[in-house]
Amino acid sequence: MNMEQKTFISTHGSAAKSLPKPPGTHNPLLHRKLYIESYGCQMNFSDSEIVASIMAQQGFVFTDQYHEADLILINTCAIRDKAEQTIRNRLLVFNQQKIKQPDLIVGILGCMAERLKTQLLEEEKVVDLIAGPDAYRDLPRLISQVDQGHKAVNTFLSKEETYADIAPIRLHSSGVTAFISIMRGCNNMCSFCIVPFTRGRERSRDPYSIVQEAKKLFEVGYKEITLLGQNVDSYSWNPSISTAAGSQHHTSSDQVIHFSQLLAMVAEIDPNLRVRFSTSHPKDMTDKVLYTMKAYHNICKHIHLPVQSGNNRILKLMNRTYDRAWYMERIHAIRNILGPSCSISSDMIAGFCSETEEEHADTLSLMDCVQYDFSFMFYYSERPGTLAARKYPDDLSEAVKKRRLSEIIAKQREHALMHNQKSINQVYQVLIEKCSKKSEAFFQGRTSQNKIVVFPKGTYKIGDYVDVEITNCNAATLFGTVVS
Ligand code: SAH
Ligand code: SF4
Ligand code: F3S
Repeated sequence: MNMEQKTFISTHGSAAKSLPKPPGTHNPLLHRKLYIESYGCQMNFSDSEIVASIMAQQGFVFTDQYHEADLILINTCAIRDKAEQTIRNRLLVFNQQKIKQPDLIVGILGCMAERLKTQLLEEEKVVDLIAGPDAYRDLPRLISQVDQGHKAVNTFLSKEETYADIAPIRLHSSGVTAFISIMRGCNNMCSFCIVPFTRGRERSRDPYSIVQEAKKLFEVGYKEITLLGQNVDSYSWNPSISTAAGSQHHTSSDQVIHFSQLLAMVAEIDPNLRVRFSTSHPKDMTDKVLYTMKAYHNICKHIHLPVQSGNNRILKLMNRTYDRAWYMERIHAIRNILGPSCSISSDMIAGFCSETEEEHADTLSLMDCVQYDFSFMFYYSERPGTLAARKYPDDLSEAVKKRRLSEIIAKQREHALMHNQKSINQVYQVLIEKCSKKSEAFFQGRTSQNKIVVFPKGTYKIGDYVDVEITNCNAATLFGTVVS
């Protein structure tokens, strides 16, 4: 997933937008203005849309100018130290605003809130409110607590919360593509990773609520949805599980809905609705999912299969629970079942604890074997409380980590360029998403393989499917012209 992005609520217009509120009782929060910023992965962005929905129910209106806001919410990421530093810098700015506007409320949501809990209140005086990823239904109560002059904290992690009944307000969308969270939390314990601590236990969302949400999006014009989870392959829904008393009663396994079935259910909504998903875990990705992708042309032919390292000793230290041979077998399964037209992407971590030059070279050689279409690449950042932080010294210098990362990035660029050059003279179906950032005369969209394509607008409009012949490229983008 793409990390460390930032966005804010856009009102799609000049003034702040008021959303419908149930009629009736007096609501002290009515018409206060909310500004929300999101960082981190797509799941966090998706969560901000749930938060927006909860706040709109309370009568809040949105603003995209923080200096106009009565309430600033920052949905934070804790995946690497740099992500947290970004938030701390942002708080300096909001602190300046609070000096000018003493009744401004500043709230921290998401993974950094969950990781640091009340410590954040002590360290960042500007913060009034802390809410972890499973506490968003409690926001109205937390805000009223702040209104009464107290600091407010809820970092309770739930085993059941999926926000399945909350219709998100789409903040990060041009009306063509949307994200749907299908599960929350993570039960894997990759030794470097803070996510299991910030997002809690894995739980899957009712598939019928997912299909309903996707259907509604399609009905109002959306053409592509991405199903989100930290490990979508372990999606599992048992209709007979009773969570009422906190206990789980399993019945026959044929009632259980697995990810491949969910994927088919969503793909069945309409052939013109594209379906994507992220993230697949190499230990869990099944051939069933690959055959389901093959059976439906509207399931996009792209798999994000993060490897992290190409070396067996490091993979073991990382507790990824697969080795290089297992990973390569999964890559061959993708190639055998879906052919060369399915793109594959990855995440890589350079300079994990005790990694030698030879072990780093194994990551580069694995990249040569797979030839990823694109990757998200990071150098290791120790996260307090993780297994790696407790057991393995973070013993490589930043200079070594950065040099290894730059070698990984250079190799990835070569492979991406090579793939893109192979696309020249080929024709791809592209879903038009928005105007190109560089020129108003061009549109931007993506192929089924998740490649960005830029082309002259012609008479087409956002949301159309067009066939584009590729004429040129760089490592990041394809350029072409519409042929139909
Ligand atoms: N659930 C996904 C990944 C979620 S985090 C998966 O298992 O693949 C996204 C990526 O951030 C990870 O794949 C990893 O490459 C990177 N990452 C996670 N923790 C990190 C850390 N401590 N330092 C550097 N990169 C990290
Ligand atoms: Fe983190 Fe591993 Fe879970 Fe991904 S699968 S979120 S890397 S613990
Ligand atoms: Fe996502 Fe960052 Fe949390 S990557 S799950 S927002 S730690």
